[in-house]
This record gives sequence, C-alpha cells and structure tokens, in this order.
Amino acid sequence: MTAVGIDAIEIWTGNLKLDLPGTFAPEKGEDPEKYTKGLGLNASSFPDSYEDIVTMGANAAHRLMERKGLEPDDIGRIDVATESAFDNSKPVSTYVAGCLEQVFDGDFHHANKGERKFACIAGTQSLDDAYNWIRAGRNRGRSAIVIATDTALYARGDAGEATQGAGAVAMLISEDPNLVELSAEQGYGSADETDFLKPNQQFPSVDGKRSVQVYLARMREALEDYESVAGDVHPDDFEYAPFHTPFPGMVRKAAMLAYRHVIRDTSVEDELADEIGRQPRPEAFDDDEAFREAVREYMDELKETEAYQEWYAETIDPTLSISREVGNWYTGSVHIARASALKHALESDRDMTGERLLVGSYGSGAQAEIHSEVVQDGWEDEIEALNVESQLEARYDMSWADYEEVHDVHNHDMDVDVEEFTAPESEFVFDGWGRMGERK
Ligand code: HMG
Repeated sequence: MTAVGIDAIEIWTGNLKLDLPGTFAPEKGEDPEKYTKGLGLNASSFPDSYEDIVTMGANAAHRLMERKGLEPDDIGRIDVATESAFDNSKPVSTYVAGCLEQVFDGDFHHANKGERKFACIAGTQSLDDAYNWIRAGRNRGRSAIVIATDTALYARGDAGEATQGAGAVAMLISEDPNLVELSAEQGYGSADETDFLKPNQQFPSVDGKRSVQVYLARMREALEDYESVAGDVHPDDFEYAPFHTPFPGMVRKAAMLAYRHVIRDTSVEDELADEIGRQPRPEAFDDDEAFREAVREYMDELKETEAYQEWYAETIDPTLSISREVGNWYTGSVHIARASALKHALESDRDMTGERLLVGSYGSGAQAEIHSEVVQDGWEDEIEALNVESQLEARYDMSWADYEEVHDVHNHDMDVDVEEFTAPESEFVFDGWGRMGERK
C-alpha cells in the first residue's frame, strides 16, 4: 500500500515575543523560575497588531507552496484547524485561500475547504481527514494542505496568561511523503469535559489545575486504546514521542505517565500495591489523598531511575525546544513538537529514515489521540529547509507596556483603529475584522 503522510511543513511564528522571566515575572511579582523551571517556558510568541490566524496561516502556507513549487491546481483540499476563529459561518480556509490566490497563478475553485474544531486536537483531526481523503482515492492525484493556526490568548490576570502563544503550522499531506508516513492504527480517549471552553467568548474559561488532570486521564486512555490495536508499546520502540505541549512542564507529567504505563515494572507496582492495598492505577480524580500521595512518591522514585532519565533526555526533551520559546500554539502545538524532535535528530546526526515516532495529540473538552509515524527518506531536506531559529530571533521583544497594548488590539471586544497599523512588505497582513489578508 502506498504510504500517506506529511510531505513537508512550514512554520510561521507570531512576530512578537514576550519574555517570561525577564518581562512577565517581575510584573507578576513571581520568581522567574516558576516559568523557566516550573512551566518550562522562556517566552511566548505573540501576534503583532497586523497579524491574526488568517495572516499567520496564509504566510506559512505561502512559504510551503513556494518552497515545494506548487500551484493551486496541485491542491485538492485546504483544511484549517483553529480554536481562534472569528467567523461562525465562513471557514478560515476560504480567507486563507483568498490570500494565496493573490500571489499564485490560478485559484482553488476545485478544492474542498473546511474548518476543524476540537480545541488543540483539531490539527491532528485535519491530518486524519486529509489522510482518509487520499486513502479513499478521492484526491485525483492532488495533495491536501492542513493549516493549524491559533492565537492562544488568555484574559489578563488569568493563570493561563503565562502559557500564551501564537503561530501557524502549514503541512502538505500527500502520497509517498518526504517526511513521515502516518499509521492506520490510532487510539482515542474521549469524554465530555468542561475544564477549558470558549462559549461565544474570545478568551477561554479555564480550570487550569483540572485541565492538567483531564489531559493526563485522556492521554492514558488513548495509549491503552492504541495498544489494543497496535500491540504493546515499549519505550525503546520510538526515537521520539512528540506530545501536545501547552507548556513543557505538562509534557514532563505526560511522559512520566506514558513511561509508567508502558514499562509495566510490575515488581515496583506490586510493592506499591501491597503498601496501599490496591493497584496503583488511579483514576485522575481519585479523591483519596493518602492513595494519591503514595502514587506520587512512587512516581518520584521512578523519575529518579537512570533508565527513565535517559529515556526522557533522548525521547522527550528534544521535542520541547521550540515550545520553550513560543508557548502554546493550541492546534499547532503537537506539530511543532514533531518539528523540534526532527530538528534535534538533524543537529545530532541521527539517521532517522525508517525510525518511528509516537505522537500524542490532545484537545480540551476533551480528547486525546495516539498514533505512530514512520520517518521517510526525504526528512533531512525537509527539516533543513525550516528557518525556525531565524524567525524566533527576528521577533520584536516587547516591553510590558507594548504587551498590554497589543493584547488589547487582539481583544475583539475593543474598538481598534486598524488604519494606524504599520505592516511589513511581502507578508499577508490583517486589515480589520472581516477584511482579512491583504498582501502589502
Ligand atoms: P499556576 O497556578 O500559575 O502555576 O498555573 P503553579 O502554581 O501550578 O506552578 C506551575 C509549576 O511551576 C508547578 O509545577 C510548580 O511547582 C512550579 P508542578 O508542581 O505542577 O510540577 N513552580 C516552580 N518551579 C520552580 N521554581 C519556582 C516555582 N514556582 C512554582 N519558584 C497552569 C499553572 C498550568 C494551571 C496555568 O498556567 C493555566 O491555567 N494554563 C492554561 C491551561 C493549560 O495550559 N492546561 C494544560 C492542560 S489542558 C491543555 O493542554 C489544552 C489546552 O492546550 C487548550 C486546548 O486544548 O485547546 C490548554
């Protein structure tokens, strides 16, 4: 069977940067290490006044099409995954296509366009849709573009404010991909939850602490479900495990959970079971504090083992490098984790062709999905083509006053005079709500 998967990716970061230890922590009166060590973040990427989900998505897709030498006729499908949409009817992909048609010959009249929503997992769901469309033979030899684009902003003063971010990932999905083949096997953990939601409001209502527990519970269920179709997973089966990364500290917890689940060190588990009188497989919301404390101690012990630390350093830590500098990109987050991992492989001369990735996606509300990917032999050229570092370095470092002003601009409720914005040449720029994506 022909491989189907991600042929190429491009990343577009918001053009501003909020320094967490240097600018955010002093304003909040917090120890900078709460952000750098606790959450694992150095900075958030932030959209400039002239940027939004359309411009970032269009800029990423433009670069992707240009680099791959594609014309609109080569594309049969454009899906945008976002949870920052401003239009409840017209999908963001139509705005993005409108931008792209300004610079390419031809148009996307015969491409199927849509918008996917399920919090952060929608980016991976859009990949599924593209994969299924190609597998069903409906693509007429054409490829799909999937764009995950978000401005992950929280109300000022919300605990989530430290985990903001903004950026877009554009991915080309095709037969015989250069980068990774997606597995047919998938595992899901899905349940109706209200820990994070935006019912007709711009900024999310979040129960932050609970959202962490829901992430872990759904991820564990997805892993079990994945194993039920793909067979037992062993930590050494995968070179890297990119997970949804709202902040690296979250993945530290998820990695521990996944490791504990898959190593099945029954001797340690049995010892703990004897001590606490039952198996240490807690439901996330177990209300027995003594039980939770015993499990925490056990996890702490496991975390100290050489085997775990080596596995974490080689398989998980390299997936977090971009996230540390940009924060949460919601739908794009797991896709920049994959890019971070493959960049690490390139920089450390790892031969990745034929190696496997274990990919864990998550969206609040809540659903986790696990699948695996096999790295293809064109991966080095694709990853070499990414210019993430230079984009990150080029960001403007905001003062606190800049941050407050820009945050207000992105608050849809406020009356903003877009005529005042200055925007760079050769980027798609925001031109007022409902009048998106003019190319300067
Ligand atoms: P908080 O209350 O400000 O922080 O909110 P905290 O007090 O829990 O501290 C964070 C960590 O820093 C803790 O580590 C502290 O111990 C540590 P932990 O114990 O958890 O391992 N810490 C320090 N470390 C070193 N030196 C210090 C220090 N001080 C504290 N001095 C919270 C944190 C995540 C709740 C908040 O940022 C938030 O609400 N974020 C938004 C929600 C979120 O990101 N949830 C993640 C799971 S849900 C998800 O991933 C879905 C999402 O992406 C949306 C979607 O799907 O659409 C969000």
